[in-house]
Amino acid sequence: MEENKFVLSDVVVLNENEDSITILDQTQLPAKEVYETITEEEALIDAIKKLKVRGAPAIGVAAAFGVYVCVSRTASSITSPDVLESHFQRIAGRIRASRPTAVNLAWAIERMTSVFHRFLVGLSEIKQEDFARLKYSLREEAIRIKNEDIAMCRQIGENGVSLISQGSRILTHCNAGHLAVSRYGTALAPIYRAQELGLNPRVYADETRPLLQGARLTAYELMKFGVDTTLVCDNMAASLMSQGMIDMVMVGCDRVASNGDVANKIGTCGLAVLANYFHVPFYVLGPSSTFDVHTPTGKDIVIEQRPTFEVTDLHYAHRMAPEGVKVYNPAFDVTPASLVTAYITERGIFNHVKDLF
Ligand code: MRU
Repeated sequence: MEENKFVLSDVVVLNENEDSITILDQTQLPAKEVYETITEEEALIDAIKKLKVRGAPAIGVAAAFGVYVCVSRTASSITSPDVLESHFQRIAGRIRASRPTAVNLAWAIERMTSVFHRFLVGLSEIKQEDFARLKYSLREEAIRIKNEDIAMCRQIGENGVSLISQGSRILTHCNAGHLAVSRYGTALAPIYRAQELGLNPRVYADETRPLLQGARLTAYELMKFGVDTTLVCDNMAASLMSQGMIDMVMVGCDRVASNGDVANKIGTCGLAVLANYFHVPFYVLGPSSTFDVHTPTGKDIVIEQRPTFEVTDLHYAHRMAPEGVKVYNPAFDVTPASLVTAYITERGIFNHVKDLF
């Protein structure tokens, strides 16, 4: 995939002055492209919680840069290693706790924390030059996390495109595209690659209730890239599949447990069940940073519960449900490994998750 052909700017950018990051506020899409500059940990946590920046890999990248920016800005006068350690852990811990399900957030924080701990070794006092060294190492690690993510997504595109033929009809759910990562996407990366190769893939994008990532984000970015895109409601997949209108399902993932169970946007499991029934291949695409060896099964994955107003009010001109109705609003569900045809990562296409860990 040629860098200069890609039509969208990066969703998380470290600014030139290096004391802030800029994110594309995805809650305003597709109506407005609004960028927000973030310097404070509070603002970053708010942006992650409100899904201004979202998608498992993008959250990880934002967290890594967030740790760098917040620690650099607030810790330069600390001379005691113990005080710096608790200051760092407080910032890292708060950012890490902002969303529980996507493993990339915790994974990126772990990487930044390892860098910090390597820096502390043998120090009894922190001098100015030591702090400059810490800043440099944290910055380098955050940039590495982002660059690795770009490279992994590009390779997922290369690997996944082998499954796509001329005019393939692909159903996707939520947004696992450019807007959810550093560049290209996971589930959408093979689609962009196919488009570049002239294969003219046709994508059915689930609207993805309640936050409409499919309608607002996937349709938006696919259309910017010129991909043939049809928006469908979440309850239309069975109808499409039963008429033989879908050749494959491609979805992203927020955490894959070591037994292969997949946490992804609520509604994914239902699609997998339908795909299995109608004999449609069901592919899960993600970078290896989303595969979590420390989580044994899907039952061990913490599922984020989100506010009720997202279901009853958020995308309606007027509240559409009776006041006081009980609402259940889990952000993700878990698809059993038995329903996954293959996992597509930067390392290849795997029918069994055990070949990945
Ligand atoms: O709640 P969101 O919008 O962050 O959920 C995103 C998803 O479920 C994506 O499919 C997943 O993070 C993979 S993104 C490459």
